[in-house]
Amino acid sequence: MQANTRAAPRLIDYFPPRAEMRADVLNGLSQEQKEISPKYFYDARGSHLFEDITQLPEYYLTRTERSIMQASVTEMARLVGPNAAVIEFGSGAGAKIRLLLDHLHKPVASVAVEISRDHLLDSAQALADDYPYLDIIAVCADFTRPFELPPIPGARRNLVFFPGSTIGNFPADEAIRLLKVMNQAAGEDGALLIGADLVKDTHMLEAAYNDSAGVTAEFNLNLLAHINRELMADFDLDSFRHQAVYNEAAGRIEMYLVSQREHTVHIGDQRIIFSSGERILTEYAYKYSLSGFADLAASAGFRVVKVWSDPQNHFSVQYLIRG
Ligand code: AVJ
Repeated sequence: MQANTRAAPRLIDYFPPRAEMRADVLNGLSQEQKEISPKYFYDARGSHLFEDITQLPEYYLTRTERSIMQASVTEMARLVGPNAAVIEFGSGAGAKIRLLLDHLHKPVASVAVEISRDHLLDSAQALADDYPYLDIIAVCADFTRPFELPPIPGARRNLVFFPGSTIGNFPADEAIRLLKVMNQAAGEDGALLIGADLVKDTHMLEAAYNDSAGVTAEFNLNLLAHINRELMADFDLDSFRHQAVYNEAAGRIEMYLVSQREHTVHIGDQRIIFSSGERILTEYAYKYSLSGFADLAASAGFRVVKVWSDPQNHFSVQYLIRG
């Protein structure tokens, strides 16, 4: 196919300015418990490392979710019905959205909302190439903040798709706020198809975030490389060590970068002092019970209609509607 006959995705760009990232990172590092948001994992290298994580033997989430979707996508498509617009939050690798698009009845549009612009454009162009009859819309935005969706002509209903248990990055108050944004995006008669990881044995959980090949450690440390490049900082990656532990009382994996010595880091003209053993919190990954997730969703105006799980109940994919 010639380049000039290629279907082009529509790009709507709300990319957060660098000044915002700087203020956000400095604010997080000035807290008593230093923290950096997991959204900054996903530069080009971070997105690639996450793809590698999804292939790891210990990281059961992605392949379990895929198997659940493969087993039940026909039923999912029946619940959604014809002429849907799919709105994916965090466009990921695009494999799961394809499974959905291949089984939905006459879908009209596919909208991806994603913070990493390169990643977003690549996956939107690939979708446009393979689904020329679909309206492909790429929205470059931080979906944790309110943003506007373009009108989608011809859509009978919106299906918000949020796979991977990325909802687990957010503590309850933030998760409810985000689910409300999705409720808004779903609109009248809209629905949500969401992946939620389930509470399970601590060893299995901790292994998934401490893989033996060290890819998760690289992914975690790459956050510092991203900040160095983006904000003129001088984090020494050898001075930090990856740590991931399951906090059973809170029902979440907590990821940290642990300072190996007392030292000072510069971010532009700002100095950040680290004591030896001091930790930067980089990510939460909440694990849910079915009732706990239903309560969370209810707080954002969603009702669980159907839950699909794997035979071992490691992971769930859930279909929710408003009300
Ligand atoms: C993409 C947020 C679902 O929490 O399991 C993987 C990210 N972090 N390994 C997760 C992640 C470390 C992942 N999510």
